[in-house]
Amino acid sequence: MKAQMDQEEIIILGIESSCDETAAALMHNGHVLANVTALQPEHGVFGGVIPELASRAHQNHIVQVVQEAFHQSKIQKKDISAVACTSGPGLLGPLLVGLSFSKAFAWALQKPLISVNHMEAHILAHFIDAPQPAFPFLCLTVSGGHTQLVLVKQANSFEVLSQTMDDAAGEAFDKGAKLMGLPYPGGPHVDRLAAEGNPHFHSFPVSKRPDQQFTFSGIKTSLLYYLRENELKRPGFNALHKADIAASYQHALIQMLLYPLEQAAMRLNIRHIAIAGGVSANKGLRAALTKLGADRGWAIFLPDFAYCTDNAAMIAMAGHFAYLRRDFAPLTLDPNPRMKL
Ligand code: KG4
Ligand code: ZN
Repeated sequence: MKAQMDQEEIIILGIESSCDETAAALMHNGHVLANVTALQPEHGVFGGVIPELASRAHQNHIVQVVQEAFHQSKIQKKDISAVACTSGPGLLGPLLVGLSFSKAFAWALQKPLISVNHMEAHILAHFIDAPQPAFPFLCLTVSGGHTQLVLVKQANSFEVLSQTMDDAAGEAFDKGAKLMGLPYPGGPHVDRLAAEGNPHFHSFPVSKRPDQQFTFSGIKTSLLYYLRENELKRPGFNALHKADIAASYQHALIQMLLYPLEQAAMRLNIRHIAIAGGVSANKGLRAALTKLGADRGWAIFLPDFAYCTDNAAMIAMAGHFAYLRRDFAPLTLDPNPRMKL
């Protein structure tokens, strides 16, 4: 009882606005009380996120999303310990909206501001719920903007072992989906279609670089020529086999993602393996990694679907760790669109 009374109460408001999700979360001692996200479907018709449109939508959504988080959590604004906000990497305009809001909110309440690295937060999402990986662990962070294999030594100590030479994994999914005529963002559509198709229908080239870096430009070109050639020689073939083509394309992408991860895990003898980021929602990737883990005797950590794509609960989690270190940011903080891990 005494220990319980001595325990510090930490309530973090997390704010995320680095791309096209406006999100707010409230976290009490590491537990999520509310996790609210406003999506921006208006980008769909353009086939990608339009930064200026995203900034305006963030401005329209942010107050409402934060109010909703307070409403759901039943937390009073005056009771928060700190405001944690993504300050990079991401789109400059969208980052500015969330950060300006967070600075004003923190200043008005006289609470500390915490600067959160978005990629770090994707990884730390693994500490929201049990089971949690033990340090050091490997995390493959696969999102729309990044593909990184990270050695996570501590909650604030990361070493990027390999990254992509060209597109991010999410872009490889989205660009492939566009070639297949699927809506934007295409990753979830490829995932859904692939579940109904044969992954061995066609062999797309699986690049395995000796330096263990990722590259996705070759497979995208290969898909483009494959679809074009089919259309010329066998009209109707692509439509008839769209699930098989999606499954084969996804299968090749998964092989390319898992190869450097497997090599690094064996080289470093690390047995706790995690994935994070939007693409970690992919059911094929989750199943393939689960199988690899069973074969190799690794403990595999897959994030809850709510914490794969961009969300503010992960920002609050990173904020919670930073609060424990009293790692606060000045109110003069600027966003850094190219922030490194
Ligand atoms: O992490 P995230 O929400 O935003 C960034 O920080 O980029 O990731 C978005 C990316 C998009 O490319 C989207 O197509 C991809 O994650 N994605 C998926 C799936 N769900 C989202 N890719 C493959 N399969 C999925 N189920
Ligand atoms: Zn993200």
